[in-house]
Amino acid sequence: MGFDVSHLSRSSSAFFASIIAFLSNLLSRSPRTPDTKDQPASEVSQISPSDKNNAADAKDATAAATVTEGTGTSTPEEEPTKSLTAAEAFDSVGPAYEDAFKGLPTQAAAIDWLVDHLKENKVEKGKIVDVGCGTGRPACSVLADAGHDVLGIDISEAMLTAARERVPNARFELVDVRPFIERETAAGKQGTLDAVTVFFSLIAGVTQDDIRAVLAGLAGLLKPGGFLVFSTVPIPVNNAAIKWMGRPVVVSSLSPEEGVAAVKAAGLDVKYDAVTKFTPKGADAGICAADEVWEESHLFVYAQKPAATA
Ligand SMILES: C[S@@+](CC[C@H](N)C(=O)[O-])C[C@H]1O[C@@H](n2cnc3c(N)ncnc32)[C@H](O)[C@@H]1O
Repeated sequence: MGFDVSHLSRSSSAFFASIIAFLSNLLSRSPRTPDTKDQPASEVSQISPSDKNNAADAKDATAAATVTEGTGTSTPEEEPTKSLTAAEAFDSVGPAYEDAFKGLPTQAAAIDWLVDHLKENKVEKGKIVDVGCGTGRPACSVLADAGHDVLGIDISEAMLTAARERVPNARFELVDVRPFIERETAAGKQGTLDAVTVFFSLIAGVTQDDIRAVLAGLAGLLKPGGFLVFSTVPIPVNNAAIKWMGRPVVVSSLSPEEGVAAVKAAGLDVKYDAVTKFTPKGADAGICAADEVWEESHLFVYAQKPAATA
């Protein structure tokens, strides 16, 4: 998901700090070279440093320069905009989300990496949770078709209705990832999952602290040797009121460096990380107007929980 913040006013010193951090990040952005063994062959050209597109960066920077923190926002002349909850926003987008992001090559590469590594580790019917599964495609669908026991969780009824229809060989549950982790942890389920995927679902309606806590909680549910694939739109903002696909929402995210650091702080070994660009087809999908969608940055992180030591 990308951030349209051009209509908002500036407010706090935290805002300026985040802009400075964001701009420095743009200038220094340089995806790490993955270990050869862990590098999905199909990704090399897709998520290489060639994404350093100055025009696009300038656009991101312009957008970032009008982010404001808070739960709703306005200029002095405007009526306050009431933000939607994450569930309301995604219910209103609905299954057309899948059309807007169809064919995202970096996501396909991340899922392929996971399928290959589970196979390499001889995990045939792995227990996998897809956090914020949306319509169930592509992640739940590909993983379930590969023979795994997949549970997709989401807070949007509209997304889950589509997911149940589109991916009958996976299970789905309406639950927020935060209580889900609490529940599973309380039930003694730490160390029981073979893999977890989090594709763009820790952005709307969460804080930066939530993102770090959720990654740590999910890492706790992984078996030793289990995998986490995490992707996000890596802009360092906390509780920023923005427009996404024409909808007012409150979002948080981390810079690429902070995102990778959060995965490492969760106790996982990062095998690969990269920042890429993608322009969702939101207008073609009928989700929003053409001027409400633009090129966005994506951070992908592939990680593994260290094997248990005897
Ligand atoms: C941007 S969409 C991505 C959907 C899917 N992962 C994909 O990549 O196609 C984010 C999804 O995460 C869900 N979501 C957002 N916050 C969530 C939360 N706290 N817990 C569970 N799901 C959440 C939304 O309802 C939405 O379906």
